[in-house]
Amino acid sequence: MKKIIDYIAEELSEAFEKAGYDRTYGKVTLSNRPDLCEYQCNGAMAGAKAYKKAPFMIAEDVVALLEDSACMEEVEVVKPGFINIRLKKSFVADYLNQMEETDNLGIEKTEHPEMIVLDYGGPNVAKPLHVGHLRSAIIGESVKRISRKMGHEVLGDIHLGDWGYQMGLIITELKERKPELPYFDEAFEGEYPKEAPFTISELEEIYPTASGKAKEDETYRENALHATYLLQNGHKGYRAIWNHIIRVSVSDLKKNYANLNVSFDLWKGESDAQAYIPDMIERLKKEGFAHEDQGALVIDVQEETDTKEIPPCMIQKSDGASLYGTTDLATLVQRVQDYHPDKVAYVVDKRQELHFTQVFRAAKKTGIVPAETELKFLGFGTMNGKDGKPFKTREGGVMRLETLISEITEKMYEKISENHSIEGEEAKQTAKLIGMAAIKYGDLSNQASKDYVFDVDRFTSFEGNTGPYILYTIVRIKSILNKYQSQGNSLDGLKVQEAYADCEKALMLEAAKYNDVMANAFQDLAPHKICAYIYDLANAFNRFYHETKILAEEDAGKQKSYIALLKVTKDVLEACIDVLGFEAPERM
Ligand code: ARG
Repeated sequence: MKKIIDYIAEELSEAFEKAGYDRTYGKVTLSNRPDLCEYQCNGAMAGAKAYKKAPFMIAEDVVALLEDSACMEEVEVVKPGFINIRLKKSFVADYLNQMEETDNLGIEKTEHPEMIVLDYGGPNVAKPLHVGHLRSAIIGESVKRISRKMGHEVLGDIHLGDWGYQMGLIITELKERKPELPYFDEAFEGEYPKEAPFTISELEEIYPTASGKAKEDETYRENALHATYLLQNGHKGYRAIWNHIIRVSVSDLKKNYANLNVSFDLWKGESDAQAYIPDMIERLKKEGFAHEDQGALVIDVQEETDTKEIPPCMIQKSDGASLYGTTDLATLVQRVQDYHPDKVAYVVDKRQELHFTQVFRAAKKTGIVPAETELKFLGFGTMNGKDGKPFKTREGGVMRLETLISEITEKMYEKISENHSIEGEEAKQTAKLIGMAAIKYGDLSNQASKDYVFDVDRFTSFEGNTGPYILYTIVRIKSILNKYQSQGNSLDGLKVQEAYADCEKALMLEAAKYNDVMANAFQDLAPHKICAYIYDLANAFNRFYHETKILAEEDAGKQKSYIALLKVTKDVLEACIDVLGFEAPERM
């Protein structure tokens, strides 16, 4: 369905053209003075210079041609030459009814679907998930859902950190603890028990222990580095341990991500890129892209227009080992070969921006990625505590994701238990849904690239710009719709009629923006735009709710229109929280 703003812009463009001006001046924006008008066009001001004419006069020429507009009720010229617009109520009502008649609430899927590989999550195997991974998962999941909503094809890839030093650390610690295991023998061959020699909780204890030891003890550290080297160079026993670690860890990760309502299409990792490295390096050397620098192999990525130094992208250390950048380049080789993406986007901590600048430039320069493929870094900021420092547990340790989720859920449970109508299993489920909304909305409502303060009290509040407030609004609408039905009425075939009150029209206008907002959120890969929108929409609804009798309305025609408006509002809110990755309970 055409965006509501495009209907207005088209009429204005026509009018500009008819009046003898260029039609591109007919651009329309949302009003920044909602008290004065709903939409506005500033084209007359923009055209004044070109036509050597006062903007006010241009605007008047244009407005004179808009008298029998299909969508505008009031068009006013305001000094020095703004065109202020109010829409016809019947037009907005029709628009909402049409939205309800389409299966996608009026969103037109793109005619040119892109193939997008989305790299998000990025947990490191065998290390517990911490809140830093939360942001990548939440933002990435939402970007994926928004892109799909617009009709694009997305492959979400978790890109596990499964090939690094932490593996050598675990092997070294395991060797000290359980030397009787068969895996440590250089001559180890093939068959080994399916049963892993550790559980996930042991694994989560082994890693920090080993990491601590390596920091204190030089020999231990060297052993771990050597074990990493052997693993990466085909030691069969270590490879068997690695397989165990992956299996135990991945099944735990799957549980954790499912809990977060986050899912991936691909469970590939750094290890999967290794097979592509030798040929890639060979080619880069042969074609002169990579050169030696103090024994290491590097690709220069500095560009003339750079105002600061961008160091070369290192792809091989002097000892022959590959690096983080090597793996990311080889992963791109694989992605291009297997999926032919139009875009590869990375949802990663913004502190890794330089790394991605180097990788992207190297990939483009060497033809690993075709020139027309877009490489996009979606860097996110740090989630801080109220003290402005990275979010920690009360004891000052790194906050684990599970701990955070259970603390928030617990808090929500206490809150809803105060209102005694919800109990038992329902109370638990509801607490979980609201907790998830609190966390995700709290995160997504901030522009991703900014640091933000994770304020538990604020995020879990049922009032203000929070996830729980949005859910509360949806639940309130659902309850009205349920009551309406329980009075023997049906929701089928209800139509929004012309608005009767200002607050009602304001709500209609908000709901009608839905497909415009979704398109913008996709354009900028910016879930926070959807959050800002549903906050406005929820506020518009609550104002309407407080100023209007709905269930007590005696005029049946009016009431039907109100109910139809509530239904679209609820549908839009639900579609939006769905792309944000959370859902509303039946009651709360
Ligand atoms: N595992 C990395 C980390 O925890 C993030 C991976 C991001 N993705 C990538 N393709 N490098 O920092």
